[in-house]
Parts: sequence; structure tokens; C-alpha cells
Amino acid sequence: MRPVSSPQEAAFALAAGHLSALPTETVYGLGARADDPHAIAKIYAAKGRPADHPLIAHLATADAMKSWGIDIPEYAYQLSDVFWPGPLTLVIQRSQKAGDFITGGQDSVAVRVSAHPLMQEVLQLLVELTGDSSIAIAAPSANRFGKVSPTTAKHVLEELHDFTTEDDVVIDGGQCSVGIESTIVDCTSDHPRLLRPGAISVEQIEDVTGMKCTTDSQVRASGTLESHYSPVAHVEIVEPTALLKYVFGTESIGLIALAEHPTPAGMVRLCSPVSSEEYAQQLYAALREADARQLSKVLAVAPPMGGIGAAIRDRLTRAANPK
Ligand code: TXA
Ligand code: MG
Repeated sequence: MRPVSSPQEAAFALAAGHLSALPTETVYGLGARADDPHAIAKIYAAKGRPADHPLIAHLATADAMKSWGIDIPEYAYQLSDVFWPGPLTLVIQRSQKAGDFITGGQDSVAVRVSAHPLMQEVLQLLVELTGDSSIAIAAPSANRFGKVSPTTAKHVLEELHDFTTEDDVVIDGGQCSVGIESTIVDCTSDHPRLLRPGAISVEQIEDVTGMKCTTDSQVRASGTLESHYSPVAHVEIVEPTALLKYVFGTESIGLIALAEHPTPAGMVRLCSPVSSEEYAQQLYAALREADARQLSKVLAVAPPMGGIGAAIRDRLTRAANPK
């Protein structure tokens, strides 16, 4: 995988059936053109991901959703109208455009319009190169299966260089502004069902649709596996008061907490965000830093539950689950 600086190079690589890692506002994605089974197979190989785990199709415009789905409910359009481009993925009944090779053989397909200017530009160029206005870039997070998602181009290169070829590219769009993966909503039944929490909260989904958003979907989603987003270090979620008992031997322990919580003597502070939004932005880089420093353990004090807090707790819980 080689770094490129122009959206044209990224779009050419994609058009030719190679991989292109691209920034979105949530995390970096490992993209391939969504109509090319050979290109998609390279994603699964690079990630070491089981072939039945479906991918998100990133679209150039909200309008393109109609080509990818059938029987799309009104509430899905309400969500796309308000939150696209943005950190939201909708799972809809698939049309014939969505091949088995991106849906893992399921009857549904996940679609998203990202707000990142580089992702938008590359998609626009790919539309022009292929002449297909609804072409999509299929992209999972650009990490090895089960590992921490990348929030910088450097993370992507470090993790995937050895599993890709020199025809594959990565384009640097800086640090991701949201920092954790998109909210996923299952829109295949009569009301919205949350598949993965993210920056768009259940409250926002309910406000926009005027419907209850439940969490009882039967649809499979790998980001909802119990153990996921895991660094090598053992992650433990703790209450702030529990930090008081760490007095000795803290040098191999990392701490992730809001800035208001002081660091026990000797412990390695991995980040000090001042808000839940900043916490989400810094979380994955902090988990990577723990592994770079070969820490054996990371203590995490979760932020309050409101807004993006619920999604942060979700990721911490999965990172903390034993493998
Ligand atoms: O923020 C994000 O969503 C990032 C950026 C790159 O867009 N992408 C991402 O992709 O997190 P990935 O593949 O790491 O996680 C996507 C999740 C997986 O858990 C997958 O199982 C689920 O979406 N998914 C995809 N298609 C689905 C479908 N048809 N039904 C249910 N879940 C689906
Ligand atoms: Mg992922």
C-alpha cells in the first residue's frame, strides 16, 4: 500500500480494481468498487475478515440509495434527509445492484453518505470515470478483523501495509473528526432498530422519525460481536473512585479518562479529553498508543451516557471483553 496525495490517484486505483483506504468523518475505510467481486475479495483478504460479514456501500449522493434498495420505508428517507452526509449507516432491503459479495449473502445492504470532503471527491471522480451515478465504494473500517479502527492514515499504513500490494493506496485526510464508527440503523421493518450506536444517538433517531427506535434487530452485524475493537492490552472499565487503589506498580498501566480525573502516580496517561466528543476522537489512538508502549493493562473511566457517551461505552465494553 502506498500513500497518495491526490483524489484522482485514489479514484484511478479504485476504478482499476485496486484498494484505496479513504478517510471518513468517523474512521478510515478500506475501499473497493462495490460492483467488482475481485476487488471486494481483496478487502476480505487484507482484513482477514470472514466472507459472510457484509460491507457498507458508501454512496456519492443520498439519491443513489434508491438504486441500492427496494421497499425503502419513509422513516429511512427522513433519517437520510436529516443526517446525510454524516456518521449514519442505513440497512435497507437490497436491490439487484447489491451483490452477494458485499452483503455476505444477506437480503439487506448497508448504505452511507459520508461528509468527509475527500471521500466525497473520490466518489464523484469514480462516478465520472465509470459513468455510473449510483456506483458505491464498499468499505469496512481499515483495520485487521477484530482490531481497533484507524483514525489516521498512519494507523492504516502501519496495520495494512503487509497485507496489501503496491497497487493499493491510502489517501491522507487528517485525523477523523468523530473518531468512532457510524451509527447503524436497521430499516428493514416497520420501525427503526439500532444495530450499532454511534455519534447519531437513539434520541436523535426517535426525534426525526417520531418512532421508537428499538435494539431488537435480528439482522447480523459483526461490529456487534461481543469482542471487537480490541487492542493487545487488557482493557478494564473502572469507576473514578477505583483509581484511588492504584498506588504501586502502575508503570505498565495506561489510563483513558476525561481530563477532570487525575492520573494516579506513575500511571501512563493515554489521553485527557475535555468532552465526550473529544473522548470519542481520541479513544482509538489511545488504545493504539497502549500497544505501542506495550502496556499490559488499560483502565478506562467511561464518560457520561448522554449523546455519544452510549457509543463510547459500547466500544469500551467490547474492547474489554476477553478474546
Ligand atoms: O463508520 C463506519 O461505519 C466505518 C466507515 C469506514 O464507514 N465503517 C465500518 O465498517 O465501521 P465495518 O465493516 O467495520 O462495520 C460495518 C458494520 C459491520 O458490523 C457489518 O456487519 C454491518 O456494518 N453491516 C454491513 N452490512 C450489513 C447488513 N446488510 N446488515 C446488517 N449489518 C450490516
Ligand atoms: Mg470495523
